[in-house]
Amino acid sequence: MRWLVTGGLGFIGSNFIRLALRERPGLSIVNLDAMTYAGNPANLRDVETSPRYRFVKGDIGDPAAVDAAIGDGVDAIVNFAAETHVDRSILDPEAFLRTDILGTHVLLEAVRKHDVARYLQVSTDEVYGDVSEGESREDDPLRPRSPYSASKAGGDMQVLAYWTTFGTPVLVTRGSNTYGPYQYPEKLIPLFVSNLIDDQPVPVYGDGLQIRDWLHVDDHARGILHVLEHGALGEIYNVGGGNPRTNMEITQLLVDGCGRSMQAHVRHVEDRAGHDRRYAIDTAKARAIGWAPVVPFEDGLRATIAWYQANEAWWRPLKSGEFLDYYKRQYAHR
Ligand code: TYD
Repeated sequence: MRWLVTGGLGFIGSNFIRLALRERPGLSIVNLDAMTYAGNPANLRDVETSPRYRFVKGDIGDPAAVDAAIGDGVDAIVNFAAETHVDRSILDPEAFLRTDILGTHVLLEAVRKHDVARYLQVSTDEVYGDVSEGESREDDPLRPRSPYSASKAGGDMQVLAYWTTFGTPVLVTRGSNTYGPYQYPEKLIPLFVSNLIDDQPVPVYGDGLQIRDWLHVDDHARGILHVLEHGALGEIYNVGGGNPRTNMEITQLLVDGCGRSMQAHVRHVEDRAGHDRRYAIDTAKARAIGWAPVVPFEDGLRATIAWYQANEAWWRPLKSGEFLDYYKRQYAHR
């Protein structure tokens, strides 16, 4: 078996590659990654010398790069490549449309051209938009509200349209907020942990009572692997952790875990524009084909804090250069 994984130097993609190579001994993986700011070769140091792993630098929006990565054929494509950060999509939306919609289109065309047997689109629960009550199901209407989630929704709609129009063999997973090792320190949990390790303040948007459903990256990677191997073509599967928490609850756990104090470190800052209050997904469909998350949230979070404490050499270089410019643009005026 040979799979093409795109965006495999990112957070969820790199954890997926590590898991798949470990658990599928006959599998080899080609990783096509554009090495944007979030694509980090250090995320896969431990597998890069494996004879079953090959890295190709390139953009999913470039048909020639995609063709080269596919070579004389792959059995499946799993698309992790995306611009993913809501705050960056507010500052600079264009890259989101290019990668998350047009890049997806290029991959779908490659699936047709090379007769690839399975294509899995890694998507997000954010495409459902703000969910004030209940839980989103896979056939609910999409109401994305940020340039990021609207781009991801655009990608999903292309994928599903190819299934309807051409019978392209597709699957979609919609994951909830993911946490764990190797997450770029712009997102809530790694940003706050790394700030707290450095005795710096943490910027909570608005009242901090927004709710996200947290999923450990190992559970997310296993969910994607499971849907790829057992999902029904043309179907969407929600992959959620079942751990709804307010941002203030997360902040309290991180502050306690790092031995800091809420009073000294929490800064309530100007809210994110168009900030979704709550996401929640129903995962019955993925559970019905045999997947369920297994990492208890408090254990997973404790292990994640410990990982960032033990791996300063991984994240400290990331919080320099480009990141500092972004941090200033994003937070200075707040
Ligand atoms: P984030 O990790 O950006 O994921 P998403 O917006 O895709 O859910 O943010 C998670 C939550 O944390 C979200 O409600 C926004 C909030 N947040 C802050 O309060 N401060 C921050 O500095 C960041 C990055 C996020």
